[in-house]
This record gives sequence, C-alpha cells and structure tokens, in this order.
Amino acid sequence: MIYKVASACIGIILIMAWTYKPAESFSDKSVIAVLEELGEDYSAKRPDMSIPGVSVEVGRSIIEDGFSTKPGGGTTGQQSKHFVCTSCHNTEREDPDLTVSDPEARLNYTSDRDLPFLQGTTLYGAVNRNSYYNGDYYKKYGELVDVARNDIRGAIQLCAVECAQGRKLKDWELESILAFMWSKELQIEDLGLMSAEKAIIENVMAGTGSKDVAIQMINEKYLHGSPATFNLPPADRKVGTGLEGDPKAGMLVYKNSCLHCHEGGKYSFFQMDDHAITHKYLNRKADGYSRHSIYQVIRWGVPTKSGKRSYMPQYTSERMSDQQLTDLRAYISDRSD
Ligand code: HEC
Ligand code: HEC
Repeated sequence: MIYKVASACIGIILIMAWTYKPAESFSDKSVIAVLEELGEDYSAKRPDMSIPGVSVEVGRSIIEDGFSTKPGGGTTGQQSKHFVCTSCHNTEREDPDLTVSDPEARLNYTSDRDLPFLQGTTLYGAVNRNSYYNGDYYKKYGELVDVARNDIRGAIQLCAVECAQGRKLKDWELESILAFMWSKELQIEDLGLMSAEKAIIENVMAGTGSKDVAIQMINEKYLHGSPATFNLPPADRKVGTGLEGDPKAGMLVYKNSCLHCHEGGKYSFFQMDDHAITHKYLNRKADGYSRHSIYQVIRWGVPTKSGKRSYMPQYTSERMSDQQLTDLRAYISDRSD
C-alpha cells in the first residue's frame, strides 16, 4: 500500500516536471518582444507569412546564395549577376557598442569573429532600425531614398536593384528576406543592460512604473539608424591624410575588406591577392588620380563601366575612418618592399 502511494506520488511529480515550462526569462527575450509587451507596435514590419513560398530559409538563401526555391518547386534565377547581399553586408552583429558607429571598434570586433569588414551595415538588427540609407545616401540615390528611408521593404527593394544591380524582388522573395531579418533581430542580451536597469524594466512589465521610462531606457541602448557621412580622398594624395599609419591594422582592412571581394576576382574582375607584386602596383597607383588609386576607390567608389553594371560602393566615414585608410596605405607600402 505504502509502495503504491509512493509510486503514485512519484508519478505525479514526474508528470508535473514533464509539463512544467519556465516562463521565458526577460534576458532571453528579443528587444522587440519586450517593446511590444510595453505597447509598441511593430506589426507593419512583420513579414506576410501567408504568401505561398515565404520562409526564413528562402530569405537566407537569397541573401547568401543569390537564389532560392520557388513556391512551386525548382530554383529561381540569380537575383544579381554581380553580387549576393553578403558581398556587402554581414548578417551577424558587428559592433561591440550598439550606441555608436565606430569603424575602428568594428574592425577589431569583426576580425575576432572572422567576419568581413564591409561598406553596407549589417543586416543583424535591421528590423530594429527605423530609418535606412541615412545621411549622405540622399546625395547618391536622390529621391529613390524617399521610399526606403522609413520603410524596410523599400530599403530591401532599393538595395536589390540599385546596390546589388539586380532584378526586382518578387513579393514572396521580399517577405522571405524580411522573415530572415526577423531571425536576426536584436536580443535583450545584446544591449548590455545593467542589472538595475533590467530590474526597472521587469517591474514595468509586471505593472509597476512608467512604460515610457522603460521604453526610453531600451531605446537608448542601440542606434535606430546607421549614420552615413561621405568623405573625400585626401586633397593631396602624395601627402596623404597626414596621419600616422599602422600596418598591422591596415592588414586587417586589406584582408577583411578588399580581399573579401577581390580575392580570385570573387565579386570583381580586378583580382587582388597578398603578393608583393599586387602591393607594388597598388602602392604605385595610390598617389595618382586614376581608378586604381586606393584613395580614389575607397572614397568615391568605382562607377559602372559602360556595358558592365558592376561597381564598387564607396566607404563612408562610418564604414572606414581616415585612420584606417592610412593604415591600409601603410600596409600596402610595407608589403611592396
Ligand atoms: C554592392 C554592395 C551591396 C549589395 C550587393 C547589397 N547591398 Fe544593401 N546596402 C549597401 C550599401 C552601401 C548600403 C547603404 C547603407 C548602409 O548599409 O549603411 C546598403 C543598405 C541596405 C539596407 C539599409 C541598411 C540601413 O540600415 O541603412 C538594407 C536593408 C539592405 N541594404 C539590404 C540588402 C539586401 C537584402 C541585399 C541583397 C538583395 C543587399 N542589400 C545587397 C550595399 C549593398
Ligand atoms: C563589396 C565588394 C568590394 C569590396 C569590399 C572592395 N571592392 Fe574594389 N571593386 C569591387 C568591384 C565590383 C569593382 C568594379 C570592377 C569590376 O567591375 O570588377 C571594384 C573595383 C576596384 C578597383 C578598380 C579596378 C578597375 O579595374 O577599375 C580597385 C583599385 C579596387 N576595387 C580596390 C579595392 C580596395 C583597395 C578595397 C579595400 C579597401 C576594395 N576594392 C574593396 C568590389 C569591391
């Protein structure tokens, strides 16, 4: 009898343990999940998953491979003949401090994680931003930016056609890219909140305190748009930037940036490698005004040649500092001896 009661008790305990799910803790939530609990509305940005063919995997495949599976089966053609989205964008976090756009901190952070260092802002946290193609991009794309500035769908479509020089995305492709971006939204853990701040926000979520205060506290922890300032090459290229270059940092720029697209002619006809002969060439051309000067191509980009629609996007000050440009020059110069 005692045995039966005991085993029944154990049985009940086991069932309770089996069915008990702890509530998702605050720290495990996404930033938007918390903001939504606090009353913010992100519904307009959510992908329309009811369109046939839409999935996170299709989005990943377009972004990384340039094509995907059609809703009815079979594969699509390449979105762009020249690029995939990851030619120019990371899809992982790339900044140690999300409140600033600091290219020097970013270069160290990305190179520690084997990520490239690129002209486009990472797609990680793109759904958390609310303005796109900021600052000086208006100068480059003019009115095209109007439909993209405050609309993530417009931003994706603009980039597919203008940045990637490819075809327009179909509805289900666009929504899939958006779905993928939602799988890369900022997490509460990313924000580095102090425990006192966490406690305040958790209290508000439990019903005590001001929602506006909690929302503001979260909003201050990350940039809501990626700033963009166009910069000119040094006025006199022989003189350079006037800064002191660090070849070690320059090596990271060269490998994680230039070689990402130019090694083996991956995304460009212009092949680059780490041999002295290549560095000699770049070093000799740097001080001139042709499209083979690093100063020229980094600050102005390389326009499309007629008949070819490939081009190289310029680096804004936020994506490569003058210090890094100088470091790159120092590396190229060192390696050409
Ligand atoms: C040749 C380079 C290149 C390619 C390819 C490219 N992009 Fe971009 N993209 C850029 C640049 C440069 C910007 C300018 C703003 C920024 O990201 O800082 C940008 C901006 C964006 C933005 C707005 C980011 C922001 O916060 O302002 C989104 C979203 C975007 N691209 C998505 C895509 C998608 C999706 C693809 C693939 C279909 C793609 N891009 C392909 C270079 C590229
Ligand atoms: C996102 C990819 C990408 C990155 C990153 C990149 N480039 Fe380019 N680059 C291109 C493309 C595309 C072209 C256009 C030439 C072509 O059609 O192949 C180009 C053109 C050039 C040219 C002129 C070539 C010519 O024949 O006209 C030079 C020089 C150059 N890049 C140097 C660099 C340097 C230096 C870096 C690193 C700071 C760099 N690139 C980073 C894609 C890239």
